[in-house]
Amino acid sequence: MLFLNSFVGLLKISIVFILILAIAIPIRYGSTDYRYLRIRLVHSLLSLKYSFISDQTRPTLSASYLAIETMLRLQPPFNHNPSVDSLTMVNNLRSLVNENIITPKPSQCSISKEIFDYDQHSVDAYWINYPSKNFQKETDNLLLYFHGGGYMVGNIQVYTGYECHLSKLFNMTVLHLEYRLCPEYPLPAATKDSLAIYRALLHHNISSSQIIFMGDSAGGGLALLTIQALIGKELPIPRGIIVLSPWTDLSQSGESHTRNKHIDVVLRFDNSDWLMNQLFDSNQTELSADNAIFSPLFGSFEKFPPMYINVGTAEILEDDSRRLWKKAKEVNVDVTFEEGLHLMHAYPTFFLYCPEAQSTLNNIKKWIQTIYD
Ligand SMILES: *[C@@H]1O[C@H](CO)[C@@H](O)[C@H](O)[C@H]1NC(C)=O
Ligand SMILES: *[C@@H]1O[C@H](CO)[C@@H](O)[C@H](O)[C@H]1NC(C)=O
Ligand SMILES: *[C@@H]1O[C@H](CO)[C@@H](O)[C@H](O)[C@H]1NC(C)=O
Repeated sequence: MLFLNSFVGLLKISIVFILILAIAIPIRYGSTDYRYLRIRLVHSLLSLKYSFISDQTRPTLSASYLAIETMLRLQPPFNHNPSVDSLTMVNNLRSLVNENIITPKPSQCSISKEIFDYDQHSVDAYWINYPSKNFQKETDNLLLYFHGGGYMVGNIQVYTGYECHLSKLFNMTVLHLEYRLCPEYPLPAATKDSLAIYRALLHHNISSSQIIFMGDSAGGGLALLTIQALIGKELPIPRGIIVLSPWTDLSQSGESHTRNKHIDVVLRFDNSDWLMNQLFDSNQTELSADNAIFSPLFGSFEKFPPMYINVGTAEILEDDSRRLWKKAKEVNVDVTFEEGLHLMHAYPTFFLYCPEAQSTLNNIKKWIQTIYD
C-alpha cells in the first residue's frame, strides 16, 4: 500500500513535470512544431555533451557548433536509387528538406506574396518584413535573396524563418525570389527569373542603388550570374552582393571537392552525375557545365559592385569561393572575404544554433552599413 501511494505520488509529479516542459519548451523555442522541437532538444543535449568533451584538434569550435555538426553527420547521405524515376527522387529530397525546418517563422514577421511581371514573364516572390511593415520604395533599402538548394530544392517555407531574421538583423525588407527549379525547368530558367524580377523592380522605380543581392550555395551562384547578365546588357547593377558558400563552378573542378570530401557534413551525395543531369536541358548537351551561363566562375567580374564572400573550410565548395575571390581581386572588385575555419557549407543559416553563424551575420550587417554609407 505504501509502495502504491509513493508510486501514485511519483506519477503525479512526473505528469506535472511533463506538463511544465510541454508548455515551457514551445515558449522557449517559439514553436509548437514537434519536429523542430525535437531538433532543438537533441541539439541542446549534444551541446551539453560537447561542453564537457571538447574537440582538441579544432579548439576554435563552440560546443553548440559541434552539436549541429554531429546531428548532420548522423543523417544518412542522400542515396540515388536508379529504380526510382528522377522527378520522384527530387520530390523525395524536397519533402525531406521541407520537413526539417531548422528556423521557425517568428510571429512578428510579415510575409506577402507578389507576382512580378516583366516583358510577359511572371515570377513569384515574397516580401518579408520583421517587424511587420510595408516596403517604402522612396526610402527603404532592399535585400533580394536567392535561396540555395542545388537549383532543385528550397522554397519560401524553408527560408522564411531565416529571411525574417535577416530582415530584423539588417533592418531591411527582404524580397525572396521563388525562381523556377530543376529538373522541371532546366538551367538557365532560374537566371531568366532573376533578371525578370530585377528588371520589374527597376521598372517600379526602385533604384538599383537601394538593392543588395544575397544568396547561399546555388543561390549565391545565381546572384553572381544575374549580375554578369546585367553587366552584359549594360543595365544598372545593385549596390552590393553577398554570397555564402556560393556554387560558382558546376563542373566541380575545384580541388576542395577531393580535399574536403570526408569532412563535408552537408554536401554528401553518392552520385553527383545523377544530380548534375537534373540541372541541364538534355536537348542542349553542347553546353557543358563549365560554360559561363551556368558557372559564374568562368565569366567576367569586371565592373562588379562591392562583394562579400563567406565560405567554410570544411566544405567541398571551398575552392568555388577562393577562386571567385582571386578572380574578383584581379579585376579590382572591392571584395571582402571571410572564411569560417573548420565550418560547414552555408553555416550562417544555423544562426539559431551556434555563435559562429551569428558572428558572420553580424560581420555582414556591418559590411552592409558601410555599403550604404
Ligand atoms: C531602420 O531603417 C529605417 C529606414 O528604412 C530607419 O528609419 C530606421 O531608423 C532604421 N532603424 C534602425 C534601428 O537603424
Ligand atoms: C517611374 O517614374 C517615372 C518618371 O518619374 C514615371 O513616369 C513612372 O510612372 C513611374 N513608374 C512607376 C511604376 O511608378
Ligand atoms: C527536348 O526536346 C523534345 C523534342 O523536341 C521535347 O519534347 C522536350 O520537351 C525537350 N526537353 C526539354 C527539357 O526542353
